[in-house]
Order: sequence, then C-alpha cells, then structure tokens
Amino acid sequence: MSGCEGCASAAPDGSCSSESGCTNPDEKLNKTLSRIKHKIVVMSGKGGVGKSTVAANIAVALSLAGKKVGLLDVDVHGPSVPRLLSLKGKQPHMGDQVMEPVPWSKNLSVMSLGFMLPDDRQAVIWRGPVKMGLIKQFVEDVMWGDLDYLIVDCPPGTGDEPLSTLQTLGPTAIGVIVTTPQGVAIDDVRRSVSFVGEVGNRVLGIVENMSGFACPNCGTVHDIFKSGGGEELAKEAGVRFLGRIPLDPEVATSGDEGYPFMKVHRETVTGKAFEQVIEPMLNLPDPPKAD
Ligand SMILES: Nc1ncnc2c1ncn2[C@@H]1O[C@H](COP(=O)(O)OP(=O)(O)OP(=O)(O)O)[C@@H](O)[C@H]1O
Ligand SMILES: [Mg+2]
Ligand SMILES: [Zn+2]
Repeated sequence: MSGCEGCASAAPDGSCSSESGCTNPDEKLNKTLSRIKHKIVVMSGKGGVGKSTVAANIAVALSLAGKKVGLLDVDVHGPSVPRLLSLKGKQPHMGDQVMEPVPWSKNLSVMSLGFMLPDDRQAVIWRGPVKMGLIKQFVEDVMWGDLDYLIVDCPPGTGDEPLSTLQTLGPTAIGVIVTTPQGVAIDDVRRSVSFVGEVGNRVLGIVENMSGFACPNCGTVHDIFKSGGGEELAKEAGVRFLGRIPLDPEVATSGDEGYPFMKVHRETVTGKAFEQVIEPMLNLPDPPKAD
C-alpha cells in the first residue's frame, strides 16, 4: 500500500505515477485520517500527573469495550507506553514507506518512538521541525487501518509535540487534559485549555488524576487531601469534568509491571472511575461520512 489510492496521480496499481514525485503531500495523511473516527489527544501543562497512565488505560478500556483503538505515544524524549503495556523490545514491521503498529490485542495497536530507540536511556535531542515531521510520519506512515479511536499520549507542556499532534490530526481532534488535585495550577490548566482552542481544536474535558486514595483495605476512596480542584477548574475553564481517578497503589504497580490496570481491575473503585472517564468518549457522535 502506498497511500496514493484515490490521488489523481495514482497509477492503476495504486503507486505514485507522478514523475516529479507526489503532487499532494497531504493525500496520504488525509487517507489515513479519514479511516479514524475519533482522535483524542491526552495532554497536560504539567509533568508526572499521569498522562501516559491515563492514556494507556483509556485505550485499553475502549478496546475492552469492543472498539478498534490505536495508541500513539508522541513523547519523543521519554516514551513510556511500551513499558506500560509490556511491549518493550518489540519492533514494528517495516515495509516500503509504511510500518505496522505493534499489536497489544486484537483491538488495540500501539506505536511509540520507544520501539525504535536502541537504548531507552538514550537522550533524544531533536528540534521542533524534526519532531513535527516524525509525528506526521507516525500518523500517516503507520498502517492504523480503520479505527474507532486514536489515543495520543503527549509529553508535558504546550510545546512542539501537542502542537504538531493537533495540527497533524486536524480540527476534529479533541483534547483531554489531565491534572492533579494538589495545588492544582489553575493557570496551568487554563493554559492547556486555551492552547487547544488557539490551535483550533476542542477540549473534551478534564480528568482529575490522583484524586483521593483508593484504599486496598476497604475498597473505598479516602479523601486524604483536598480534592475536587479539577472539577472547579473545569467549571472555571468552561469545559466538561470527565471524572476523578483515585491514587491507587495498584495503578502504580500495574504500570511498573507492564500490565494495564484496566485489563485486570475493572471492577474496583478505580476501574469504575476509569469507566466513567471513557463514557463520554463512547458517546461521541460518529463523524459525518466523507463522501
Ligand atoms: N491514579 C494513580 N494512582 C497511582 N499511581 C499513579 C496514578 N496515576 C499515575 N500514577 C503513577 O505516577 C507516575 C507518573 O505517571 P505517568 O508516567 O503516567 O505520568 P505522565 O504525566 O505521563 O508523566 P510525564 O510528564 O513524565 O510524561 C507513574 O509512576 C504512575 O504509575
Ligand atoms: Mg508520560
Ligand atoms: Zn479504607
């Protein structure tokens, strides 16, 4: 597959017949995007708030709900998705200008720069334009196929990666902002929300992660610190509150050991919290058909 099908310059076998090279640089990208129903970009102005954990568990939960899901990790400096899903050391199959994502299950496939780095401790120093090109490639050169959801895990901040991601995925991509209740930086969340708006996209809502403590003894959530900041923030920023995910020792353990929490603990209080967060995603209206 070359991605040229449907292009005016495509030869009968689907390859590019244009002698001067492709005349429509976005043809391939648009084809890929047209096969993805919903694009959800998980981000936060802050580091370490659980973006990758939330993104991976959203992806797993949606896949367990019977949806076709792709999980794309665009954290080029510290890709953590391969570890979270026990896919470290896996390599995507490479073809002629295309690569196959790494399957995690029948319904979930994954792509991360982590699959391509020889050593995960190696620091990657890339400038903006290179990152931009890489993210575009990760969308258009990966054989995602028909997806109900593409979930993207971003590095912290409102820098090159979330910007490139939103620009590559286009205006129908929606942002999910992860925050924590402690010392919730309203400025931070506000910045993330307005960043998404400035790029021309919509925010689906805010997730308050590490909110309360999921007690392994009694199975309920104890409010050890003040929580609810995310909800106030959502109100203030004028976006939907998607829910609270408690601090749960099992979430940390499952991340370290590489089994996704939602695969094993769906029935717990934390599992139910994740289910609540994906509810609005499951209820997103289908995009209008392209033709
Ligand atoms: N709800 C939770 N309960 C317990 N531990 C959690 C929870 N959410 C995340 N963690 C833990 O917090 C740490 C940071 O999580 P994670 O890597 O997902 O954050 P991040 O926002 O993606 O970080 P970065 O900004 O570095 O990309 C991990 O060790 C993870 O296991
Ligand atoms: Mg991360
Ligand atoms: Zn308890």
